[in-house]
Amino acid sequence: MKHLKTLILVLLAAALSYSCQKSNPITVIPEPVECSPKHGNFNINAKTYVCFENISGEDHEFMKLINHSYRDFFKLTPSLGDKTSCKKNYILFEINEKRDEAIGDEGYTLNVTPRHIIAKANTSAGLYYAFQTILQMTYPDKTAKSKKTTVPCAKIVDYPRFAYRGAHLDVSRHFFNVKFVKEYIDLMATYKLNKFHWHLTDDHGWRIQIDKYPELTRKGAWRPQRDTWDTLHPVLPEEPMTYGGFYTKDQIREIVEYAAARHIDVIPEIEIPGHCSAILAAYPQYACDNYPYTVAVGPYWPPKAIMCAGNDDVITFYKDVLSEVAELFPYPYIHIGGDEAFNDNWQVCPKCQQRIADKGLADEMALQQWLMNQLEKHLKDLGKKAIIWDDIVSDDMVNMSTIMCWQGPKAAKTAAKHGNDVIMCPTTHCYFNFYQRDPKEEKQLCMEGLITLEKAYEFDPMPKGLSEKYQKHILGGQCNLWTEFINTPEQARYMIYPRICALAESVWTAQDHKDWKKFQDKVAMHTAFRK
Ligand code: ACM
Ligand code: ZN
Repeated sequence: MKHLKTLILVLLAAALSYSCQKSNPITVIPEPVECSPKHGNFNINAKTYVCFENISGEDHEFMKLINHSYRDFFKLTPSLGDKTSCKKNYILFEINEKRDEAIGDEGYTLNVTPRHIIAKANTSAGLYYAFQTILQMTYPDKTAKSKKTTVPCAKIVDYPRFAYRGAHLDVSRHFFNVKFVKEYIDLMATYKLNKFHWHLTDDHGWRIQIDKYPELTRKGAWRPQRDTWDTLHPVLPEEPMTYGGFYTKDQIREIVEYAAARHIDVIPEIEIPGHCSAILAAYPQYACDNYPYTVAVGPYWPPKAIMCAGNDDVITFYKDVLSEVAELFPYPYIHIGGDEAFNDNWQVCPKCQQRIADKGLADEMALQQWLMNQLEKHLKDLGKKAIIWDDIVSDDMVNMSTIMCWQGPKAAKTAAKHGNDVIMCPTTHCYFNFYQRDPKEEKQLCMEGLITLEKAYEFDPMPKGLSEKYQKHILGGQCNLWTEFINTPEQARYMIYPRICALAESVWTAQDHKDWKKFQDKVAMHTAFRK
């Protein structure tokens, strides 16, 4: 009897300490919509089952990826099963049999108890985000160097504020290899970003294989190696073209597939009609003039190079290029540039002036509209849609593409009222090539401008004062990483993180649910984990 009493007391004490174990703080970025911490932890160990329910067809990729990432992250091999294998000590990923309208296409619910973790969603994207949340919930334990991995008990309901949550990478000013591009995509996936904007062409290098125009990568992808970006001097005839690179079609397919598995769409950008020195170095016949264009080296401003909009071969060139690009990228949107097209050459080019006259256009701006419209029609024939920088926005614009707003909310509001969809990436909050602290204290040379972490965190993609009727046109936002001063993966990592966390929370979490103080604590935890 005495023994029985002792046994009961011991069991009670054990049960109590089990359920009241101090939980780790929950430091998920972006902040979930609802997160109710509960007592206790779920312990992931070598006996933990990972189970899947209602996963079918192509979603099997999801199971493979979870299995793989789980091994990678926890250094454990999970026992796999379905719902019937789940008795205790399991993590279940289940697609809802009946759609849960409250969480939409990308949301999920998570129930963590000491016995199990149950993640439910309407889609595998939702389950993938649930998995990212589970991983982040273990971060503090990782910093404690503990082998045991604990997930604090909680109930979470989560879904994004915006459908478009992006990050851009300029691979023209400096080239980044496939390995780094995948790392960038992994970082995006960690923070539930879902659109990778790949800036593949610019004055400083053409980075995508196009079979019909081989000179683009034979010549247009290479320039002399210079130590600094500070001074521009023309390329000398004897200088070897040793800096550069490009992605083969196979590499592009590999990256698109890699991103798709992580629920990230890839948006290629072919910059039209300016920022084209690399094209003109390879195909000088597409210029308005006879200037000896080279792939640009160092600061090149203002970029005078522009393709001749009066030359029918230029239209054919762009259509051919876009056709090959469209085949490589399954996402319906292709970015066709349109920014900073300095049209001085068009003003004095007989062919461009002839086009303006033939088409009854008002001026050179209208000529650019006309050119972009030709290419939008071509994309439409290919089953694709265009994204264009906001330089094209005006009160009387005739264009129905999605507008990417880098210049601020004014253009965004005009475009939205006009009926165009809009993606926000204003220089005020989203240009992560700008300084992140006082330049005097900064080791890294940056583009002039200051976006501290706090400033980045203040970003609200919804332009102030836009009436409710037009708000549906604001699809979301993205950060931009222009790489004039970013030569290496190490520098790119330094510039993008942790500001990418601020961007992620700004596009996922409701503005009034954001909390700068809490965010700083979370970032500290994430940073410790990354080290
Ligand atoms: C841009 O920064 N010119 C899009
Ligand atoms: Zn011309």
